[in-house]
Amino acid sequence: MPAKRWPALAAVALIAAPVRAEVPVIPLPQTAEADAGVPGGIALGSGTPIMVQADDTDAAGVADWLGDIAHQRLGLHFPRKVQQVQGLAIRFVHKPVDSTDAKPLGGEGYRLDIDARGATITAPARAGLFYGAVTLAQLLAATPGQPLAAVHITDAPHYAWRGLMLDSARHMQSVPAIERLIDLMALHKFNRLQWHLTDDQGWRLQIPAFPRLTSVGAWRVGPDGKRYGGFYTQAQVRHVVAYAAARGITIVPEIEMPGHALAALRAYPEWGFAGVPASAQADWGVFPSIFGVEPVTLKALQTVLDEVMALFPGREIATGGDEALHDQWRASPAVQARIKALGLRDETALQGWFAGQMARYLAAHGRQAIGWDDLLAAGGIPEGAVVLSWHSPQGATTALKAGHDVVLATDPVFYFDHRQAPGRDEPPGRGTVITPADIYAVDPGSVDAATSGHLLGVQGQIWTEYVRSDAQMLAMAWPRAAALAELGWTTPARRDWTGFSARLPAEAQLLARWQVQPTPGAFGVTTAAVAGEVPSQAMQTCSNRIALNLPTAGEHPALVDIMDRCWVTPPVALDAPTITVRIATLPFNYQLAADAKTITLRPPVGNGDELVVRQDTCDGPELARVPLDAVPHDAVPTAVSVPLGAATGTHKLCLFAASRSPAPLWAIETVTLP
Ligand code: ACM
Repeated sequence: MPAKRWPALAAVALIAAPVRAEVPVIPLPQTAEADAGVPGGIALGSGTPIMVQADDTDAAGVADWLGDIAHQRLGLHFPRKVQQVQGLAIRFVHKPVDSTDAKPLGGEGYRLDIDARGATITAPARAGLFYGAVTLAQLLAATPGQPLAAVHITDAPHYAWRGLMLDSARHMQSVPAIERLIDLMALHKFNRLQWHLTDDQGWRLQIPAFPRLTSVGAWRVGPDGKRYGGFYTQAQVRHVVAYAAARGITIVPEIEMPGHALAALRAYPEWGFAGVPASAQADWGVFPSIFGVEPVTLKALQTVLDEVMALFPGREIATGGDEALHDQWRASPAVQARIKALGLRDETALQGWFAGQMARYLAAHGRQAIGWDDLLAAGGIPEGAVVLSWHSPQGATTALKAGHDVVLATDPVFYFDHRQAPGRDEPPGRGTVITPADIYAVDPGSVDAATSGHLLGVQGQIWTEYVRSDAQMLAMAWPRAAALAELGWTTPARRDWTGFSARLPAEAQLLARWQVQPTPGAFGVTTAAVAGEVPSQAMQTCSNRIALNLPTAGEHPALVDIMDRCWVTPPVALDAPTITVRIATLPFNYQLAADAKTITLRPPVGNGDELVVRQDTCDGPELARVPLDAVPHDAVPTAVSVPLGAATGTHKLCLFAASRSPAPLWAIETVTLP
């Protein structure tokens, strides 16, 4: 090669060297290369046409979605044109992507080129076209009204299963709220929504073969005596399924069995054993009610599954399997005889057998069972079934080694019913704080090191015992679900918390456009404390066993450990003060099974319940003991004056409710110093 050619080649090499672009997109695309060729950027605004091939119905559907959200959420009008457009346009090109990557992109992969021609989305399948449009929508939403920087993105997911689970059994959500959740899931490239439709507290799915499942099982009476409940009609379910499908999301319905079955058993007691007292039906927690194993019950549940399969076209059907209490099976001579007849070891093995009956039934209809990892202990994960691993990452590894496909759904880090931040403004939920950073720090690949390939992906669980409203449900899910989305989509080498947090402001704006309002705390912003006031959320619970951030009739939730209503403040300055404790009574409505015996009660000295304050620790010098008789039993936080005698200096205070019974549940909202 002549020497004089070198400088020219070097210049070519310089121009061609890819420059990584910072794109405000969650989950982060696998590659994004800046294009310096269009310095002023590309102005995609109202009037820019969207172009699809005339016979491409997949692209047309995606173009409709993009056009609709651009109009509704970004105020942009993109006319949809099918014919060839020469100038600036948004083009959908439905064909295999030319990729220099050794790994082909797959059906969810896409290429997005933003350059002088506009935006071109190229993908081999509808899913990829959709995800290309999603990335474009996020770019447009991040800098509204401004030209987009030229960029070339090549992208495909790391994991096949990127899921959320929504509990509509404990508290039900409106269909528009579920649509909004689906909108946001789609915008973060999730592809599975496990819909938890049945539990002890409610049966939410209309099943015409068994009308009492909803006429009876969908309703309960809360501790306040009010009737609560509802269900989704088959027409509503079909609508939600289609709405999700149009956005690349498969709904995985979940019918709980054999445990978490009280609502169904209230409707059809003949499927189980003697009932629970009506007064307990307002309880949270796990009821002992379990389905029986007689052929008539199995047949009824399979009839339910027939109707479920007719409504939900996706391959996976979840049949629960978690937290089944076996006491009723143990006590039943008929069940014991069946265990013997089947040659099984015990009730645990019987549950494995039960799960196998359902999994085989689903498989015979071309479907795949999916169940919680409790079935591992039963030694009974049916072959081909997918395991939802919630107990521990180690359990996930065990299931993977046993050859199962696993979805990592770890409690507590992927359980979105936990508080998202420590402030008092968080909506009610479980007490442990799980921040977006906690989720982002999980390395799903670590459970899969020895068995790579069987980890299907990750899933976040929106349980709703303490999540009462649509707005709270959405605020609990986001922005944590965005962190999870990146674990599911982006390769580990591309992920870093600093980069993710730099994209969170754009995420906050995106959520605001979809009317989701997480607390500032969810984005790491702490709100100013009120001088002299110590909210329960700023205290330690004494044993932190089942700490819950529970709603009171006041403005803020109260953090209380239902196993021990006892709190320790941070060090506070005391000078013979009288402190004010705002305290409320809440219903004690929890099914705790064997744990009920381990509730810590600290007996009062008088007849009624008392508030006790001790110095430094809960065994320290007693500073005060005041009766609580005057506090009404109506969940309204009531101010109680507590003189602390001659206390001086800086000390922690231990405060506890002394009582002889778990009910009522005493909950301190705040401690205020003078
Ligand atoms: C579960 O949390 N019981 C799956």
